[in-house]
Amino acid sequence: CGIIARVGRDDAVETLLTGLENLEYRGYDSAGIAIKNGTGLKVRKCSGEVDALKTGLDESPTGSGTIGIGHTRWSTHGPPTDENAHPHTDTTGEIAVVHNGIIENYATLKTDLEARGHEFESETDTEVIPHLIDEYRQQTADIETAFRKAIADLEGSYAVAAIVDSDESGTGTSPDDEEAIYAARQGSPLVLGLGSEEWFLASDIPAFLEETNDVIYLEDGDVVVLEPEGYRITDLEGNAVTREMDTVDWDPEDAGKGEYDHYMRKEIHSQPTSLANTIEGRVTDGEIELAEFPAGTFADVDDVQFVACGTSYHAAMYGEWLLREADVRTAVHRASEYESSAGPIDERTLVVAVTQSGETADTLAAVRSANARGARTVAVTNVVGSTAARETDDALYIRAGPEIGVAATKTFSSQSVTLALLTQRIAADIPDAQPIDDLDAMLETLSDLPEQVETVVETSRAADLAERYLESRAFFFIGRGLGHAVALEGALKFKEITYEHAEGFTAGELKHGPLALVTEATPVFSVFTGGGDEAVQTNATEAQSRGAPIVTVAPEDHPAVESGDAHLSIPDTHPVWAGLLANVQLQLLSYHAANELGRPIDKPRNLAKSVTVE
Ligand code: G6P
Repeated sequence: CGIIARVGRDDAVETLLTGLENLEYRGYDSAGIAIKNGTGLKVRKCSGEVDALKTGLDESPTGSGTIGIGHTRWSTHGPPTDENAHPHTDTTGEIAVVHNGIIENYATLKTDLEARGHEFESETDTEVIPHLIDEYRQQTADIETAFRKAIADLEGSYAVAAIVDSDESGTGTSPDDEEAIYAARQGSPLVLGLGSEEWFLASDIPAFLEETNDVIYLEDGDVVVLEPEGYRITDLEGNAVTREMDTVDWDPEDAGKGEYDHYMRKEIHSQPTSLANTIEGRVTDGEIELAEFPAGTFADVDDVQFVACGTSYHAAMYGEWLLREADVRTAVHRASEYESSAGPIDERTLVVAVTQSGETADTLAAVRSANARGARTVAVTNVVGSTAARETDDALYIRAGPEIGVAATKTFSSQSVTLALLTQRIAADIPDAQPIDDLDAMLETLSDLPEQVETVVETSRAADLAERYLESRAFFFIGRGLGHAVALEGALKFKEITYEHAEGFTAGELKHGPLALVTEATPVFSVFTGGGDEAVQTNATEAQSRGAPIVTVAPEDHPAVESGDAHLSIPDTHPVWAGLLANVQLQLLSYHAANELGRPIDKPRNLAKSVTVE
C-alpha cells in the first residue's frame, strides 16, 4: 500500500492525487483521500485505480483544503471494495486515517470498541485506528495525546497518518480542530518530505519528488506532527528526537514515464544508464573497490547465505553461483522459507538480503531471524534508508534509480552486477577461498556491459517473436548455471505481465518431467551463457524432437543458433554478463507479448511492487 499526506498553505488535493499516482506501483486495487478545511472532513474513496478516484472527485469534489491524506491499496484484510478503501473514519466521521501494514491485534481491539458503541463499516484492520483515537479523545481534549495513546495500543506493523476535523461550522473554533497531521511509524516505511512551506509524509520518495528532494527517513517508534509552521518528531512518549535530513539525487523525471507508453519499457531501456551508475567507481584499474567494504572486511566469514523473494531471488542465485565458483560455502534461500531452511548459523555466517525495495516483509523477517541468531547481515538494496538497509549491519546500494513498473527489470541487472562485485570482494577476503579464475576478464568486460545492453535494446527482434508465438499454450525457459537463474527470471517476468503459463527449468531437468508438457504449441526459450552450452543444446534438441519450437538466446555465431527455430541475439561477452544480456532480450519478449495481449503492463493483476505483508 502507499500513503501520502500533506500540509501546506494552498490546496492539497492535486498534490495528493499526483502523489497517489506516483505510488500506485505499491498497490492499485483501491484509492482514496481525505481533506480537512475546517468544515468537516471530506472523504472520497473507491475500489479501482487512482483514475477512478479522480472521476469520482469530478462528480463530487471535496472542495479545497490545505491539509489532507491519501492512500492507494493492495488488499490484505478484506477484498478491494469501496468500503474497504482508505481513508477510514470513526463513528463521528471526524477522524480519518490511512495505514500501511498489518494490525495484528485488531480483532481484540475491534471487539472492545464495538462493546463501547463504535460502529464499523469495513472488514479492514485499519478501521480500529480512527475508532481508538476517538475513544481516547473523549478522555483527553488533546488530539495529539489521543493519537499517541491509540498508537500505543497497536501491535504489528504500521505507517499511519491521521487528520481530525470536528468543526462543521467553518469557524475553526473547536478545540479539537488542530491544523495538523499526526503520523507514526513501526515496521512500515514512512518518509518525511521537506518542501518550501509544505510538508509531506509518504511511503516512498517518488510520491513527492516533484515537490522536494529533501527527506528525513523516519524510524520505528517515531511519531510526527506536521503543522503549517513545520514538523515535530518525537518518540511515543512525546520526547523530541532528532533525525538527519538527506537530499536524494533522484530526478523527478526518473519517476515519470517520459516518452514511453509504460514504465516497464522505460526501465528496460534505461538499463545502460542504471548499470553505468551501479558500476561507477567500483572497479578501478582492474580492482574491485567497494567503499562500503574495504579489503579484509569479510575475513571472519565462514559461509554466506542469500535471502530474497521474486526477481531478487533470481539475482541472489547469481550471487550464490559466483561464490560457489570461488569455493565459498554458500546457499540461497527463499526468504519466506528461511525460518525452516536456514540451518546452522553463527557469528561467522554472513546473510545477504537482496531486496530492491528494502521493504519486503518476507525478506525483513529473514533478516530479523538472522540478526537474532547472531549472524552478520548485509542488505543489497535500491532504496537508501529502507528498512532492510537500517536493520542490517551494512547496506550496499545498487543505484538503479526509482523503479516504478511492478515487474522488476533494471533492478535485476543492477542487483546481479552488484552481487557479482560483492561476491568477489568476499572471496578475496576469506582465507581458503579465491576469486573466480578469469576475474580480470570478467572485470574488463564489465565496462562494456552498458553499451552491450544498449545494442540489445536497439536491435532486439523480441517483438516479432512475441507476435509469432503469441497463440502458444505455454512458454518454457531453460538454462544451466547462471542461465538457470535467467530462465527462471524470464519465466517469472512472462507470467507476471502476460498472464500466460510460463515456467523456467534447469535445462537438464526438462527430461525428468516437464518434457511431458512439450508440444509444438510450447516454445522453449533456451539461454546460452557460454557455460554448459553443449548440454543446454542437447536438452533443447530433446524438446525440439517432440515438436517444440526452440528459440535460442545466444550470440549470433553460436553453434546452437543454426539448429534452433528462431533466435534472439546477444553480443559476445564474459559468461557472467551474457546471462544479463539474455535477460534483457527476455524482458523485451515479455513486454511485447503483454502489449500484444493488451495487458496492464505496469500494474499486473493481483500483484504489488512492494509486498509488506508476510
Ligand atoms: C514482489 C514484487 C516482485 C519482487 C518481489 C521482491 O513480489 O511483485 O516483483 O521481485 O516483491 O521485492 P524486493 O523489493 O524485495 O526486491
